[in-house]
Amino acid sequence: MERQIGGISAVTLAKEFGTPLYVYDKQIILQRINDLKEAFPQAHICYAIKANPNLSILKLIAQQGLGVDCSNRFELELAEKAGFDLKRSVFTSTNPSDEDLKKALSTGILMNLDHISIFRRLQKIGLPKKISFRINPGFGNGKFPEIDVGGKDAKFGMSEELATECYKLAKESGVQHFGIHMMTGSCILDEAYFEKLILTIETIAESIEKKVGITFEWMDIGGGIGVPYEPFEKPLNLKAVGERIQRVKKSPATLVLEPGRYIVAQSGTLLTKVTTIKEKFIGVDAGMTTLIRPMLYGAYHPIVLANDDALPETEKYTVVGPICESTDCFAKDRSLPKIKEGDILAIQIVGAYGFIMGSQYNGQPRAAEILVSNGLYSLIRKRETTEDLIRNETY
Ligand SMILES: Cc1ncc(COP(=O)(O)O)c(C=O)c1O
Repeated sequence: MERQIGGISAVTLAKEFGTPLYVYDKQIILQRINDLKEAFPQAHICYAIKANPNLSILKLIAQQGLGVDCSNRFELELAEKAGFDLKRSVFTSTNPSDEDLKKALSTGILMNLDHISIFRRLQKIGLPKKISFRINPGFGNGKFPEIDVGGKDAKFGMSEELATECYKLAKESGVQHFGIHMMTGSCILDEAYFEKLILTIETIAESIEKKVGITFEWMDIGGGIGVPYEPFEKPLNLKAVGERIQRVKKSPATLVLEPGRYIVAQSGTLLTKVTTIKEKFIGVDAGMTTLIRPMLYGAYHPIVLANDDALPETEKYTVVGPICESTDCFAKDRSLPKIKEGDILAIQIVGAYGFIMGSQYNGQPRAAEILVSNGLYSLIRKRETTEDLIRNETY
């Protein structure tokens, strides 16, 4: 049977819009937001825009009442366009420019700053009503080393000691409302880890509150909620995570979460056409420019034959793209049914850090994006053309 996405045949979509093609199922995004609201009823949820910033998707998420997490002025502008309430959102940047700080300050967003030097720069621009600093607790986690953002080698956050100095300085400068932030990694499927994060941030927060004489109003543990990509991975029991957090969280500060992946990853499928079969290699028209996660992290994405997803996986293939790099490989020795040229493959769980991490390298206009919902579909980004490859060039 042909693979269905949101009640529509993937093969039909590929025929109508061409390939490579990103397809997102709106109902899955809504379901994931619902899961979060149910599991963390007391939390304020701010979608990490970097995971998937397509404006139609941002508008959909903003309409569900979520805040947003932005890292620079451009993401802030996208969030404004999408209708997010920036006064109920967070700006968690790394190495922001003065222009980023200026824009963030003008919106009234809660800024999570990464170092005292950034606060000193901000002081020259203006005084925020509220401020938060990012703690690095000395440990991190994450499915791959590249997305572990805590520990001594991480460029993110600061020690408790330095943060204490930051809060003193902020208080002396007249800031009146305070938050504390601590994100340590992405794609975590370990329930107990979230409890550990809360216990750690609470201990640090309590000590800073005492030393500085402030009270935290927001306690932000960033993103990091994982989704299973590989057949052996089990989904997080989100309700259990929420209950564990509720049990150990003593501080009255509002819990802030910045999920990106959890909201959009599973909604996305990348459809790609088989152009060439060359011994064990299946050559497809998507490449590392369309989806870089497998090449960047060695990330696993399930791949199914969209033409008939019930066929037995009798073969082993290596699925590669059209880019002139040996790293341009989606899967090595993957079990798949017998594939023929012209078939459509569906690379799954690509809604987060998929399209947006792509590039135009090697003459690759970016793919089109489609949003599907209960049998209806709409084009939410046109396929790029050769013109787009040279759009900003002057010649
Ligand atoms: C500051 C910050 N918040 C939130 C996120 C989203 O993380 P995730 O997609 O793991 O939920 C990231 C991801 O890099 C981040 O850097």
